[in-house]
Amino acid sequence: MKSYSDRVVWITGASSGIGAALARAFAADGARCILSARNVDALGQVRRSCREPDRHVVLPMDVSRFDSHGELVGRVYDEVGPVDVLVVNSGVGQHGGAVETELDIVRRIMDVNFIGAVSPARLVAARMAERGSGQVVAISSVNGRISVPWRSTYCASKHAMHGWFESLRAELSDRGVRVTIVCPGYIRTSISKHALLADGSEFGSVAPQHLSGMDADVFARRALRAIRRQRAEVHIGGPEKWAIQVFRFAPLLFRLLVRGYGRKP
Ligand SMILES: NC(=O)c1ccc[n+]([C@@H]2O[C@H](COP(=O)([O-])OP(=O)(O)OC[C@H]3O[C@@H](n4cnc5c(N)ncnc54)[C@H](OP(=O)(O)O)[C@@H]3O)[C@@H](O)[C@H]2O)c1
Repeated sequence: MKSYSDRVVWITGASSGIGAALARAFAADGARCILSARNVDALGQVRRSCREPDRHVVLPMDVSRFDSHGELVGRVYDEVGPVDVLVVNSGVGQHGGAVETELDIVRRIMDVNFIGAVSPARLVAARMAERGSGQVVAISSVNGRISVPWRSTYCASKHAMHGWFESLRAELSDRGVRVTIVCPGYIRTSISKHALLADGSEFGSVAPQHLSGMDADVFARRALRAIRRQRAEVHIGGPEKWAIQVFRFAPLLFRLLVRGYGRKP
């Protein structure tokens, strides 16, 4: 696809960070964006920061309220039209030990990061397959390919995305549905501010690796290029993204090095 001019692009987690930057990038390319997340005021601000704000639609959505998704998808198709690109991007971070993190918190993170991506994706992908065209973009993470200490459930939720979205691609590729999995490295957003600690409270500040990470708008422009080329999987970030190759080609070395990564929260 050369440009997203007049294409309908639905982005979850569009109220901040990567989702907001992707909305601006798609809008600059001529797309009509549907912006979803829980914070309606922030979504309005993102809409106003996009090119031609009046073309874009704010659609409040909690990705962990699965029972509401059928109705939301119906409204999108009735009121806006068929979705050309669905970006499942909503996510929550984690700072907590694998043993210490309570099961309720494990479930909350999986509900947002994994099932909260799967639920809208399966509903929209079904309609794309009926129509014979569409693209689903899953925002995973470098942690969808490698696991690090103190992020066990976050890593699990992102690894799970690869499992599910790879199957989706294989099942629907001959029905015109493309799947792109994007793995960001460290991007400058507030992901760590809202990251959940072992007891469910929020970390509360932006971690240094995110402060010095890639600018979200730079990331979004690179991601858009890969999405346009319908790449199956792309890794975007600084040197941290090469950890995926270290793990792939020298797993013993990776497992030794990763033990010292990060500090116990
Ligand atoms: N920043 C990085 O370095 C990095 C690296 C790898 C992967 N990622 C991934 O990139 C994605 C975006 O993260 P970000 O860095 O842009 O962080 P962010 O600025 O904290 O954005 C997270 C987004 O997810 C939304 N969200 C959280 N819970 C939700 C829920 N229950 N329902 C609907 N939306 C929800 C938030 O909106 P509301 O609070 O308004 O609902 C917000 O728009 C995440 O999937 C994250 O795992 C980020």
